[in-house]
Amino acid sequence: MSEQPAASARRPKGEPRFPGGPVADPAGSHHERRIRSFQPRRSRVTTGQGEYLERLWPVWGLDIDGHGKLDLNEMFDGLPIVLEIGFGMGEATAEMAAADPGTGILAVDVHTPGQGNLLGLAERGGLSNVRVGNGDAIILLREMLEPESLDGLRVYFPDPWPKKRHHKRRIIQPDFLTLAAPRLKPGAVLHCATDWEPYAEQMLEVLNAHPAFENTQPDGGYAPRPAFRPLTRFEGQGLDKGHVVHDLLFTRVAELPSD
Ligand SMILES: C[S@@+](CC[C@H](N)C(=O)[O-])C[C@H]1O[C@@H](n2cnc3c(N)ncnc32)[C@H](O)[C@@H]1O
Repeated sequence: MSEQPAASARRPKGEPRFPGGPVADPAGSHHERRIRSFQPRRSRVTTGQGEYLERLWPVWGLDIDGHGKLDLNEMFDGLPIVLEIGFGMGEATAEMAAADPGTGILAVDVHTPGQGNLLGLAERGGLSNVRVGNGDAIILLREMLEPESLDGLRVYFPDPWPKKRHHKRRIIQPDFLTLAAPRLKPGAVLHCATDWEPYAEQMLEVLNAHPAFENTQPDGGYAPRPAFRPLTRFEGQGLDKGHVVHDLLFTRVAELPSD
């Protein structure tokens, strides 16, 4: 008697797990030798999330394949655009999009269940100003964004990588800032938040030292939490453990340094 191969064995490599949905590792970044800020993982997608991925990905999804520059103006109908890196399950993203329909949010993560969840939240909330990116935000910044195309950048509760040998995986580093700065418009706000004290200190140090960014706080310190940033899922877990949360708000300088 012949056995049916498992669904995953039947699927040609690179084909979406959800027909029409996001492609696994769209730019092949998992084969790059570069140190990444995330751990590739295969996570369980609920039936509901899978349905959103199949139905809404072709409309609101974007595979970060590293091929060609994006026309963000066309994607967002001319709205000012904020890039959010690492939205997790997307609840805070959906809340911010609902509260500010005049801003487009390009929300990027590698986490498939979160992508399905955010698509569902966007549809149920009638949000037309969210697009969901699948893949490594570094490739998006490096290969797919035009200069001065972003009005803001949000990195909320990035993976803290607490072990010393993993610190090199933290996304907020001088190289990341140098990559991001030219894609931001002059005056655009870079907003970071973390509940991991040593990472907050590192963020403050590298941001204050970077010539492309200026601290909005005259004392060079952390910023009060802005009212527009909702509590995020990861933040809630940190607060439950008694962690203190820090927000950092910096603007891109008018003229970038020449090298
Ligand atoms: C600790 S979670 C925080 C999620 C959410 N912002 C919150 O506060 O609940 C960090 C997220 O960043 C994503 N991430 C890390 N590096 C990334 C990268 N280079 N590109 C896209 N997503 C990334 C991870 O997959 C993860 O979902």
